[in-house]
Amino acid sequence: MVTTEVKRLKINYKTLEEFKKFKEYGLQELSMLEELQANLSENEINSPFYGIYYGDILVARMSLYKRDKKYDQYFEPSQDYLELWKLEVLNDYQRKGFGRALVDFAKSFNLPIKTNPRVKSSEFWNKMGFTPVKYDMDRDLGENPLIWHPKGLSGEKTNS
Ligand code: COA
Repeated sequence: MVTTEVKRLKINYKTLEEFKKFKEYGLQELSMLEELQANLSENEINSPFYGIYYGDILVARMSLYKRDKKYDQYFEPSQDYLELWKLEVLNDYQRKGFGRALVDFAKSFNLPIKTNPRVKSSEFWNKMGFTPVKYDMDRDLGENPLIWHPKGLSGEKTNS
């Protein structure tokens, strides 16, 4: 059986090097590099990323960020929730349960979760129990957010 221990990733040069293997490499990673260069020592700062190592290799990762209820535009009543993004499993390691392990870890905080899925992953999110929100142009601006609620209720805001 594969081990699926989820670890909080520290900002260090090794992690940033490993991030280059993932397709979604962008501004967030570059700002982490800047943060690292501005600080004298590595491993001092927690990143918003969590990951799973298979041996020495970071094979799956996601970003998780707690949003205060005052910014909540998705749930009714307004509540603290987790924003999940950049969930990605390296090609050779897909369909082995790593994606599910990361989502289960996010669910274990017992807070509602919102994510903007990558294209073509809807079947996976469906299996994870996430449901689409009713599209709101002002709020969603071309994105198609999915939500999950610990109580199983959609708890979705209705625009009435
Ligand atoms: N299509 C249909 N079902 C999928 C799927 C896909 N692309 N990816 C995963 N699933 C299903 C699995 O079969 C599994 O179902 P089961 O519990 O009934 O056996 C369940 O979702 C959990 O799968 P898991 O092994 O945890 O998925 P994963 O580790 O591969 O993670 C992604 C899923 C989407 C995060 C990961 O594959 C990824 O990063 N993919 C790259 C980009 C992408 O979105 N690809 C989609 C295909 S083009």
